[in-house]
Amino acid sequence: MGAAIKKHSRAFRTKSTVVSFGVLVPLGVFGIHCSPDLPLPDDLIPKTVDCTEIDHTYENFGKAFLQEYCLRCHSVTLESDLSRLDAPLGINFDSMGQVREFESRIRLRAGELGDMPPRLIPGPHPSFDERIKLIEWIECGMLTEDELEGDG
Ligand code: HEC
Repeated sequence: MGAAIKKHSRAFRTKSTVVSFGVLVPLGVFGIHCSPDLPLPDDLIPKTVDCTEIDHTYENFGKAFLQEYCLRCHSVTLESDLSRLDAPLGINFDSMGQVREFESRIRLRAGELGDMPPRLIPGPHPSFDERIKLIEWIECGMLTEDELEGDG
C-alpha cells in the first residue's frame, strides 16, 4: 500500500517535470541550445547521388525550403537576438551566397541530424523526404536554375 502511493507520487513528479520542461523550453535559450535531434535513418541518407538525375535548384526547391524552415530565425532582416530566437547574428540564409558559405553545416544540422530548426520550438519542420532532397541538392552543388541549364 505504502509502496503503491510512493510509486504514484514518483509518476506524478515525472509528469510535472515533463510539463514544466514543455513550458520553459519555448521561452528559454536553454531549450534552444539543448534541442534534441531527429537523425535521418542511416538507410535514408543518400550515399551516392546521381546528379544527372537531380534537378532540384535554388529556385524550384532551396529557396522555398529555407523560407519555410529557416528564415524566421536566420535572416538579415532580423536584427535582435530575441527576434532571431537566438540564432547567431552572422548565420543567415537569405541569398545563395550566404547559403553556400554554410552548406556543410546546413547539410549536417537540417539534413542529417534534424536539429535545425530546433525541434522544441513550435513551427514547421521538414519531412524526411524534404531533408533527403536538401542533401541531394547540396551534394550536387546547390545549383541555381541558370547553373543547371549551363551545366547541361
Ligand atoms: C526557431 C529558430 C531557428 C530556426 C527556425 C532555425 N534555426 Fe538554426 N539556429 C538557431 C539557433 C538558436 C542556433 C544556435 C544554437 C545552435 O547552434 O544549436 C542556430 C544555429 C544554426 C547553425 C550554426 C551552427 C552550426 O552548426 O554551424 C546553422 C548552420 C543552422 N542553425 C542552420 C539552420 C537551418 C538550415 C535551418 C532551417 C532548416 C535553421 N537553422 C532553422 C535557431 C533556429
